Amino acid sequence: MEPLVAAIDQGTSSTRFLVFNAKTAEVLSHHQVEINQSFPKEGWVEEDPREIMQSVYECMERTCEKLCQLNIDISNIKAVGVTNQRETTLVWDKETGEPLYNAIVWLDLRTQSTVERLINKAPGRNKNHLKHKTGLPISTYFSAVKLRWLLDNVEEVQQAVLSERAMFGTVDSWIIWCLTGGKYGGVHCTDVSNASRTMLFNIHTMDWDPELCRYFDVPMEILPKVRSSSEIYGWMCLGDQSAALVGQMCFEEGQAKNTYGTGCFLLRNTGTKAVMSDHGLLTTVAYKMGKDKPACYALEGSVAIAGAVVRWLKDNMGIVKSSSEIETLAAAAGSSYGCYFVPAFSGLYAPYWEPSARGIICGLTQFTNRNHLAFAALEAVCFQTREILDAMNQDSGVPLTQLQVDGGMTSNRLLMQLQADILCMSVESEFRFARWKKAVQRAMNWETTEPFCSANGFGKKMNGNPWGVPPTPPPIRADP
Ligand code: G3P
Repeated sequence: MEPLVAAIDQGTSSTRFLVFNAKTAEVLSHHQVEINQSFPKEGWVEEDPREIMQSVYECMERTCEKLCQLNIDISNIKAVGVTNQRETTLVWDKETGEPLYNAIVWLDLRTQSTVERLINKAPGRNKNHLKHKTGLPISTYFSAVKLRWLLDNVEEVQQAVLSERAMFGTVDSWIIWCLTGGKYGGVHCTDVSNASRTMLFNIHTMDWDPELCRYFDVPMEILPKVRSSSEIYGWMCLGDQSAALVGQMCFEEGQAKNTYGTGCFLLRNTGTKAVMSDHGLLTTVAYKMGKDKPACYALEGSVAIAGAVVRWLKDNMGIVKSSSEIETLAAAAGSSYGCYFVPAFSGLYAPYWEPSARGIICGLTQFTNRNHLAFAALEAVCFQTREILDAMNQDSGVPLTQLQVDGGMTSNRLLMQLQADILCMSVESEFRFARWKKAVQRAMNWETTEPFCSANGFGKKMNGNPWGVPPTPPPIRADP
């Protein structure tokens, strides 16, 4: 029997376990379990660390059962890799093995006032003032402020730190610690790609940075040991977006991939150079394939909400019954007919980094129905990607000519066609992209009453229909 390899993919919305033929890369069996999210207060997003682990065990068990039914011997699985949602922050007690609070998910906004305070006291109020070390702007997105919140607000965490029982980690650390024995001697580690998303890690020295830890007042003894992305501690472990870059074989400088998951993450390999962005992108550690190998970096454009907008339409609004139904609805609409949806549920990430932005849907008329909303939601994913691509091209000066795509949403053919159209920058896309930019400005100033757009040119340009669906003219809009 040929050797097998397996992967745990612990994402924001679901966990998967997949077993591959190590030689042919054929997927032999897999299982997937959805993860519950809780929203205890506005802007808060939490997951239960026990449920995360339970989902990992369940996926592994079910997958192995399926392999047994196929008469495949599971002892041929030679290695298990871990890939995970990245910045999500956990603290647990190393003696009891129990989490001391829910996992604070990367999308969570509870630290917005901390972030504003840190930016206000930074020299020149510059949100990028730690970027030379971390590659990141100060933002609610990354782990350091989430950990700070836990240290400030959760008594159990404070007690555990005082009694030297606290362990901090991102989801990879939690999974590996549990799988390697947990309270009976689990390995407390993370890899460079996950560490580079905490804001406590220096992406040049490739280690935790004492100055950054002092800045966020984080005790260094609770941090996991940082390892390379591939070495003998038994498993290979990478943050999910770095893993996708590797999976897409983007090993050459300049190669890029975009993953459409809960959010959308476009990473471009910059080789061994940590390129700093002037256009709102992150500099992140892509991977380090062995202890003695050099680190490879990537420029990353992170979009907080992509697949999550479909889940919102399903769970919060009841507009679709299943995620796949959005394609049918959007295809029936053929266009959003002037409706724009900026799903800034967790502020706006790249290239704006504006935590106070909130979602808006604008350009509604009496003509608008759920199909148009579905279309606008898909378009929002594509426009956000276009913004990232523009920023990336401006930073590198070398326009991307090819983009590899993956993630759950890529099975939506309409979405992929829209994406191709919008990235090709046709005249109609240009116009609609300009309108999208305006909607984004509105999302960032969501408390103001500035009119969305002038009617000037609206009817004229909307006569074009890039998706070949017979146009049904929207009602004439009055001048705002
Ligand atoms: O940075 C967050 C990212 O790693 C989450 O990925 O797959 O859960 O959308 P995903």
